Amino acid sequence: MLEEITVEEKLLRFENVTYRYEEDGEEALKGVSFSVQKGEFVVILGHNGSGKSTIAKLSNSIYLPTEGNVYVNGMNTQDEENEMQCRKTVGVVFQNPDNQIVASIVEEDVAFGPENLCVEQSQLRARVDEALKSVGMYEYRMHETHKLSGGQKQRVAIAGILAMRPQCIVLDEPTAMLDPKGRREVMNTVRRLNKDENITVLFITHFMEEAATADRVMVVDDGKIILDGTPAEVFKEVELLQKVGLDVPEVARLTAMLRKNGCDLGDILTEDAFVEAFIRKMEG
Ligand SMILES: Nc1ncnc2c1ncn2[C@@H]1O[C@H](COP(=O)(O)OP(=O)(O)OP(=O)(O)O)[C@@H](O)[C@H]1O
Ligand SMILES: [Mg+2]
Repeated sequence: MLEEITVEEKLLRFENVTYRYEEDGEEALKGVSFSVQKGEFVVILGHNGSGKSTIAKLSNSIYLPTEGNVYVNGMNTQDEENEMQCRKTVGVVFQNPDNQIVASIVEEDVAFGPENLCVEQSQLRARVDEALKSVGMYEYRMHETHKLSGGQKQRVAIAGILAMRPQCIVLDEPTAMLDPKGRREVMNTVRRLNKDENITVLFITHFMEEAATADRVMVVDDGKIILDGTPAEVFKEVELLQKVGLDVPEVARLTAMLRKNGCDLGDILTEDAFVEAFIRKMEG
């Protein structure tokens, strides 16, 4: 018998989503609509209080919309029967690694999530090992979690989510509390998961540099999406970005100033690309 398979290319879809924390309070999100395709790496940028964490918590049914709908693989998060499947499909990693570590030994911590999903003991070992290898923490599997660096803890937290085999990971400012080394470790890990393991990523940050290598960047301000495009398209909006309190990367600022003065270097996102394009312009 042929089973009917519906392919839902949109892994995550927000449809006119409004969210209020209190019944008569202000709207934290105001009619937000967007979707994320399978395999995409999307960055959400926004100033403090713009609504980023609210989006993260709505994306796997930790919160349910006040108005509108959120769909995970076509499943409405408001249907109670979808709750478990939604949480298995979209895993959320939060800002503070210390709040996410629950066990004293690394491998026990990573096993916690899948154990809660009632994964069989025989499969558990393989899942934990695979997840730890994925984030480069396998050698640390017997280490004590409280002795790890911030970046290592955050990678263990990501492994804990991976062990539940999600199709999409939402990371809510996972690098905000880390030093530059920890930030690089986490960023490289997430990029690799997206490229090599085809995991869909929604990466929330207020560091503009982290947006440069995304497929797509959305900017949130005051509960609304005000920009949605490639990093090059978004970084061109220097004045708007500054107006909503985001630090525009120096290269983007310089490129915009030169463009204003009749010297268009094209789409520039990194210092290397800037130098290269500038020299070419001077020689040409
Ligand atoms: N538990 C809560 N109760 C009431 N209001 C809240 C609650 N959490 C957030 N808010 C409000 O909702 C709005 C959006 O908050 P949210 O946490 O989504 O922003 P954010 O972009 O994640 O901010 P940050 O950069 O500080 O993490 C803010 O105005 C905030 O004050
Ligand atoms: Mg937040």
